[in-house]
Amino acid sequence: MSDMPVTENASASRSPAWNALAAHAREIEPLHLRAIFAADPGRGDRLALDAAGIYLDYSKNRITDETLRLLVALAEEAGLRARIDAMFGGDKVNVSEGRAALHIALRAPPGAVFEVDGKNVVPAVHGVLDRMAAFAGRVRGGAWRGHTGKPIRNIVNIGIGGSDLGPVMAYEALRHYSRRDLVLRFVSNVDATDFVEATRDLAADETLFIVSSKTFTTQETMTNAHAARDWALAAFGGNETAIAKHFVAVSTNAEAVAAFGIATDNMFGFWDWVGGRYSMDSAIGLSTMLAIGPEHFRAMLAGFHELDLHFRSAPFERNLPVLMGLLGVWNNNFLGAPTVAVLPYEQYLKRFPAYLQQLTMESNGKHVRADGTPVGCETGPVYWGEPGTNGQHSFYQLIHQGTRRIACDFIAFGQSLNPLGVHHDLLLANVIAQGEALAFGKTADEVRAEGTPEWLVPHRVFEGNRPSNTLLLDRLTPAALGSLVALYEHSVFTQAAIWGIDPFDQWGVELGKLLAKRIVPELGGGTAPAHDSSTNALIRRVRALRGTR
Ligand code: F6P
Repeated sequence: MSDMPVTENASASRSPAWNALAAHAREIEPLHLRAIFAADPGRGDRLALDAAGIYLDYSKNRITDETLRLLVALAEEAGLRARIDAMFGGDKVNVSEGRAALHIALRAPPGAVFEVDGKNVVPAVHGVLDRMAAFAGRVRGGAWRGHTGKPIRNIVNIGIGGSDLGPVMAYEALRHYSRRDLVLRFVSNVDATDFVEATRDLAADETLFIVSSKTFTTQETMTNAHAARDWALAAFGGNETAIAKHFVAVSTNAEAVAAFGIATDNMFGFWDWVGGRYSMDSAIGLSTMLAIGPEHFRAMLAGFHELDLHFRSAPFERNLPVLMGLLGVWNNNFLGAPTVAVLPYEQYLKRFPAYLQQLTMESNGKHVRADGTPVGCETGPVYWGEPGTNGQHSFYQLIHQGTRRIACDFIAFGQSLNPLGVHHDLLLANVIAQGEALAFGKTADEVRAEGTPEWLVPHRVFEGNRPSNTLLLDRLTPAALGSLVALYEHSVFTQAAIWGIDPFDQWGVELGKLLAKRIVPELGGGTAPAHDSSTNALIRRVRALRGTR
């Protein structure tokens, strides 16, 4: 791995700051982290940052002080400061959709001012939050009654993408704070199994469905919402009046919500300046609020806000999301590491990697710049991961000894929410050990010194020199979760500014949706498939399997 060439990506001539980094990468490439640490013994303390309750150790990246200086120069050259100002100023930074991206207003305190088209949106944000809190209070307190007069025991969020991944992730992450007598379920997939399994043991008269969809047109969500409606009506003998007691909606599309049959009183709105994957702190978080209560939800928003303030004001070299974003660019574009493994050593964060996949890859998986010209370098890396220590007994082998370079983000908490025996000591020992092993490895001489037979030595060598970040927080509170999510949101934004892309659109999801619509009638057999020979053959095969030749 150490003789892996510097990527074309880095050597392609671009801007002065980019070219300086490419030249610098050629100097860094032959250096091992062992040598980098030996030459700079104080880096473990120096290359660390503490903000908004998050301690980031980034010293185990293959960087020097010069690398950091050059990366900050790249950010300045890319106009990151102006980009941040534009986003916070409510400019239409989502250029291809002509929209602001003002998710930061969702967690602003009541007195703050964030304007879109000259109008302060913060009062409206708090208006919705207050309505959500009142509703959550009624449901949690048992005042909200179902059709037969029973209180709500089960809450089913129906949504997909940003209308699902954030709510699921937050529910799992904050389960410790949740009301254990409420059952929370999440239905996203258009595969009927998702809906059927989620509802099979629920009593309709104790169940509340939250139909969460920014557009209220998404095929999967509307199909599941109609299935839920039919399921409820079947239980209530077709009595349509029952729907008002068992369905609420979260959307920006009041007309479509009304057309579905949900009254405006039962709708919680948000705005087109909230991207789906940036919406877990909007009304899309209604299920989260129902689970953990309004106070904890507001604490989560405060955590988001604290990180927002830091991002807005800290100098780039002491700015957590800026640094993480820049280190991501360094690993991705200059050191040839095309993927990032997100490895939370916290079982409650088991859905965090999945959440980050949409946040990072739907945002930065782009091939053209905001002005439509080819981007000319690699953009968003592939994000993936699993909680530790489980991953250690699965794919870590490839990270340690495989031929691919993988950057790792370790996430850990000093305190467990479930202290039990030696578990947390072991968990923390493991996460710290993994970063150490990846960076420093084990040389052939060290392996030999253990008496290993010569033929086995190569198998037992750990090359090391694998970059990682370690994020250490005190404990997984709602505020900590908010800060953590905001950290990644702004790190994604930083990277988009460097690559010059629009991180707030997602045109890449459209073609598949369009083709699927075309294929639906072709599967039924009434319409002849009219595609390429492979697609036609697959459609015919499905027809044969289903007896609809
Ligand atoms: O997958 C595309 C997408 O538009 C996501 O960006 C979004 O989070 C998801 O679909 C769901 O959209 P909606 O909330 O409008 O149903």
